[in-house]
Amino acid sequence: MPGEGPPLIPEYHDSGDPNRYGIRVPFVRPALPAAETIARMAAEVIQSGRLTKGPYCERLEAAVARRLGVRHAVAVSSCTVGLMLVYRALDLAAGSCRSRRGSGDPCEVAAFDALSRFGVAKTASRSEPLGEVIIPSFTFLAAPAAIVWNNLRPVFVDAEPDTTNVSVAAVRAAITPRTVAIAACHNFGNPCDIAALEALTQEYNLPLVVDAAHGFGASLHGRPVGAGGTVEVFSLSPTKLLVAGEGGIVATDCDCLAHFVRMGREYGNDGSYDALFPGVNGRMPEMSAAIALEGLSLLDDISADRNRLARAYRDELGDLPGIGFTQTMPGAVSSYKDFSITVDPTRFGMTRDGLRRVLAAQGIETRAYYNPPCHRQTAFEHFHDRSKPLPVTEMLSARSLALPIGAHVDAAVVREVCDVIANAKQAV
Ligand SMILES: Cc1ncc(COP(=O)(O)O)c(C=O)c1O
Repeated sequence: MPGEGPPLIPEYHDSGDPNRYGIRVPFVRPALPAAETIARMAAEVIQSGRLTKGPYCERLEAAVARRLGVRHAVAVSSCTVGLMLVYRALDLAAGSCRSRRGSGDPCEVAAFDALSRFGVAKTASRSEPLGEVIIPSFTFLAAPAAIVWNNLRPVFVDAEPDTTNVSVAAVRAAITPRTVAIAACHNFGNPCDIAALEALTQEYNLPLVVDAAHGFGASLHGRPVGAGGTVEVFSLSPTKLLVAGEGGIVATDCDCLAHFVRMGREYGNDGSYDALFPGVNGRMPEMSAAIALEGLSLLDDISADRNRLARAYRDELGDLPGIGFTQTMPGAVSSYKDFSITVDPTRFGMTRDGLRRVLAAQGIETRAYYNPPCHRQTAFEHFHDRSKPLPVTEMLSARSLALPIGAHVDAAVVREVCDVIANAKQAV
């Protein structure tokens, strides 16, 4: 039977020993600054005695804000924590921007209108339904988790088949008086339609929260993604193009939002030791900030390399019936945080999972992002209205297959992976 073979490689495992599962071609390897550079910075940080809240964090924030063209880049311990703090801070910022209305602060002009429904809808009454955040289901589970952690309700909507990003039409159709925010994501580093989403959120006075976890290395009309919507939140975990070890960046033009995210990463403490709201320890350690700061200078080259690899994959696989590719919008450059194809089981003659097994048997590690989609995950399925099917999400979940990409992949590896796929097709 085609596709039979060893069990699927577990989705989440300690990849410290890539041979544990007989992996020859790992799914990902982080591209990092030279080991000697990291060692020098580590020695400097240790000698300084400032392991957290130090100069590297400040320098990283300033460099990222410059690169993205935003007023604030707040370094946090992860993208998940960044998103959690953003939904909490949006509520606080709504009140703050409201009270500062008319003060001439440049942030309030943009922020007040966008935030005007957030706090009101969320805090109107405990007995009222939870404020709703419209979010694609075809995204990573951290995004709805951040919403639910803030006692908000995720309303899952469908994706566009070509880009895999959220369908703007589906978002529009899901807006109700309970909607307090719209969430989007640059899936796999492929920029989502920020202009259309901004037009929609402005029309309805709603904040737009962009999960830019995969965003470093992507650009839109020649500018790095990150300045869109009310706020964009990046991840700097080891599978990303810009790596801190673990870390995140909250990028926004809203002074109030940035203020409350900064406070939130410090337990909700503004320095007076009187917590204004229950925050977390969401700080980025100095060592992580130093690695990311150094990594910034490599980012454009890393993105160019990944784009070259993506082109090579397309060239090799382009003629195979049943293999589909993600489209980018005009003017958009993906970071290719992931190179994800779709496998049409009828035309290819084998399911995505069957092809995964064939690749695994050759020691080639892949991922099935995002399967299951968020609206079918245990933590979130009860939020989903089953009378509203998400056919594109279901299709993408069943068919998407992310192939190895990164510093450890070269043209020869691409050819090898593609040969295995082509041979699998021929064998059916
Ligand atoms: C789309 C997306 N959002 C959020 C996250 C969470 O990022 P972090 O691991 O930095 O919390 C990830 C992690 O990979 C992700 O892929």
